[in-house]
Amino acid sequence: MTELLNDTTTDITDTQGRAYGRQPGMSDQQLMEVAAGTPMGEYLRRFWHPVAVSAEVSTTPKKVKILGEDLVLFRDGKGRVGLLYPHCMHRGTSLYYGRVEEEGIRCCYHGWLFRVNGECLDQPCEPGGGQRKEVARQPWYPTQEKYGLVFAYMGPPEKQPEMPRFAHMETLAEGEFYEVDNSGFGGYNDANAPAIVPCNWLQDFENVMDPYHVQVLHSTFSGVQFSEKFISMPKVEWSYTDTGVIYHAYRGLDNGGTLTRINSVFMPNISAVPRVDASEGQAPGLGWYVPIDEHNHTTFWVSKVTEETKGKLYRGLPMHNGKYWSELTEEERQKYPGDAEAQTGQGSQPRHSEWHLAMSDRGVSMVQRMLKNEVKKVQQGEDPIGVTFDANASAIEVKSGNYYS
Ligand code: FES
Ligand SMILES: [Fe+2]
Repeated sequence: MTELLNDTTTDITDTQGRAYGRQPGMSDQQLMEVAAGTPMGEYLRRFWHPVAVSAEVSTTPKKVKILGEDLVLFRDGKGRVGLLYPHCMHRGTSLYYGRVEEEGIRCCYHGWLFRVNGECLDQPCEPGGGQRKEVARQPWYPTQEKYGLVFAYMGPPEKQPEMPRFAHMETLAEGEFYEVDNSGFGGYNDANAPAIVPCNWLQDFENVMDPYHVQVLHSTFSGVQFSEKFISMPKVEWSYTDTGVIYHAYRGLDNGGTLTRINSVFMPNISAVPRVDASEGQAPGLGWYVPIDEHNHTTFWVSKVTEETKGKLYRGLPMHNGKYWSELTEEERQKYPGDAEAQTGQGSQPRHSEWHLAMSDRGVSMVQRMLKNEVKKVQQGEDPIGVTFDANASAIEVKSGNYYS
């Protein structure tokens, strides 16, 4: 290595390592793609994904984009949720401008009325209200509601799995309820944070298996964003589980004890992150990292809370310099970066070809390897891990939590 000269210029005689002639960075498209027909897109379509917060689905149609597909979401007058291809099968205007009625959504252009399952109930311009309307079907996807969210299944009908159940979320104690958050970019519970995160879903998901950034980004670089307990560098063990990846991060405490932080992810895009204030006990919720398209995603978080803990379990406190992320100036985002800056700083897709993975990235590599393996299984006609077709299958046990010993 050459020494830098002790003045204000760089060593202009050093010819090594310069940016000139650098090859353009490439993203690993096998991991990034989400569209129908792509290997990853088909794999992801084997699972139920949250598409909206239940309470936000009403008789006013809502535009939804998921897995690269534009859709329209609404709740009909009977309370049923519909998720339809937006362009009306008659002459293609958007059902976003439709009117929701008791039995479905009526297109604004010529009034065709569609049920939540796409069946056409009325064609008012046609003789007799449409004599062949029974054969018409607006493309649709099935939905169901759970934990305060609307989930959709966008894959092959014959492979439609049961909704997964997570043991720690299934029952609510007295006074508990599900708190739902879709403020994806910048921080949980930041009412003004946009729901759309301008980077690929995998950047956010694999980040969960990166416990070292908790010490740097969240504990020292930007001050303490989560808890002072995370200031010390952990010792980490990762392992595969039946349904994903888990880590144990051990930290010595001043009193001679140990804080063990266990964090786990479930294929393809679900996390159970323990409380970030380091308080003892099992993770109180789940998070989903849902692709909008190859360059954008959103997150849905569900936590079991009480009146006392609502809004506080993850990043309930203002994140940086006493402010919520959405209140930060550009300069403050440089000074107090968080996950939003670190992940979108990678680009809307990471330049994988430029990465230099090290020992501490083992969890990220394991997530990517497992995903690629699952994608291959689906291509070969197998079912991926994490899906079940048995309505009586036992709920998935979640080990995530902060534990003191
Ligand atoms: S375009 Fe929808 S009814 Fe004609
Ligand atoms: Fe983080």
